[in-house]
Amino acid sequence: MEILPQHVSIIMDGNGRWARARGKERVFGHLEGVESVRACLEEAATLGIKYLSLYAFSEENWNRPQAEVSTLMELMMKSMKNEFSNMMKNNIRFVVLGNRSRLSEGLNAAIDKMMEDTAANNRTTIIVFLSYSGKWDIMQAMKKAAAELSPEAFQALGPEDFDNYLVTAGIPDPDLLIRTSGELRISNYLLWQSAYTEFYFTDVLWPDFRKEQFRQAIEEYGRRDRRYGKVK
Ligand code: IPE
Ligand code: IPE
Ligand code: MG
Repeated sequence: MEILPQHVSIIMDGNGRWARARGKERVFGHLEGVESVRACLEEAATLGIKYLSLYAFSEENWNRPQAEVSTLMELMMKSMKNEFSNMMKNNIRFVVLGNRSRLSEGLNAAIDKMMEDTAANNRTTIIVFLSYSGKWDIMQAMKKAAAELSPEAFQALGPEDFDNYLVTAGIPDPDLLIRTSGELRISNYLLWQSAYTEFYFTDVLWPDFRKEQFRQAIEEYGRRDRRYGKVK
């Protein structure tokens, strides 16, 4: 592939509709969606994409029915355990970013362990955004910077310095953002970091988004002309 994005991000949407279309409970869509995560991660690693990030659960998703929230958290826990050996075998680093204070102690402990154990892997990094929202990220960055810096240094902050206070510090901004299921919005995702990201929207529901669909999005990215405000 000619122009490869360094960081691909996905708003994985449409699990509920996928299940409903089959007359099943929403949870079946989430379960099937895990298979899409596996497929896209495998394809990203094969293609040599360095960062694959996934919007798995937004701060707003806490407002879903308690039963669905619990199911999603349990699924996260189970999937991490299931995928651990694969990640080690395939040299994948695993990272979770978001408002970790809202996650259970057990889940936080499992996430810490998984992040530590895979920290030295360097083929592809998978970032799972859990209990994340873009506005929350910007707010926590602003508060952290205000607490750490003198008023003068705070006033002198530039955009590149501010990057270091976001939870994504050290991770390049996404080159390509995919959203499945036909919704044309960002839903409070990477607001700051997507300033110059290329967007790719598809009607395909997340459980149906597999290697072939992923590759199509990467190919489309290769045809984009990124100008960053300049004249070419
Ligand atoms: C995406 O699928 C998964 C999460 C947001 C956790 P949805 O659960 O939003 O599925 P739809 O949009 O209702 O079809
Ligand atoms: C966005 O999907 C969040 C995730 C994919 C985790 P939603 O289904 O929650 O978004 P809205 O509510 O349709 O904007
Ligand atoms: Mg949705």
